[in-house]
Amino acid sequence: MEIRSPEAESEFVAYYELRWRVLRKPWGQPSGSERDELDAAATHVAGYDEAKRLVCVGRLHAVETGVGQVRYMAVEEPLRGRGLGQAVLDELERLAKWQGMSVIVLDAREAAVGFYRHNGYEAVGEGPVLFGEVRHSKMRKKFSVSMP
Ligand SMILES: CC(C)(COP(=O)(O)OP(=O)(O)OC[C@H]1O[C@@H](n2cnc3c(N)ncnc32)[C@H](O)[C@@H]1OP(=O)(O)O)[C@@H](O)C(=O)NCCC(=O)NCCS
Repeated sequence: MEIRSPEAESEFVAYYELRWRVLRKPWGQPSGSERDELDAAATHVAGYDEAKRLVCVGRLHAVETGVGQVRYMAVEEPLRGRGLGQAVLDELERLAKWQGMSVIVLDAREAAVGFYRHNGYEAVGEGPVLFGEVRHSKMRKKFSVSMP
């Protein structure tokens, strides 16, 4: 698998389509609702399989000095549980450290809390409830910054 930022416009189209299909469509949200105003300046990571098909995505944006937020983590449903989400998160954390961040915060959907705990994130409070039903926990991870 290749983990990198999407580059071509067509790659970004596929990137947002996967984000929408996994994180918005099941709740009846329209195409376009998967994007926000921070996308333009954010760090985007995508995974491509041997056939160059997009299989997983995730985003990092800066919240304040030294603090980043991970959002929009999504893996194609049939391919979950095979380390793809891990690969995206590892890359986002590597890039966060490279950008001088020492803390990552995120709002984890209930079903994903175990995934983030497994990766050293601790629950620090209740997060938002999306679409009236998707509960989130606020989570946080602190790491020491070491430049490669
Ligand atoms: C959450 C998500 C990104 C995780 O990606 P994934 O590819 O399924 O997870 P991985 O296979 O990379 O898991 C990595 C490790 O975390 C563990 N893990 C994954 N999900 C877990 C969970 N819910 N609870 C506990 N551990 C979990 C795995 O067992 C694996 O452990 P290992 O390294 O010891 O084998 C993915 O399942 C997904 O897209 N879910 C739907 C969308 C979503 O909820 N996104 C998050 C929004 S906050």
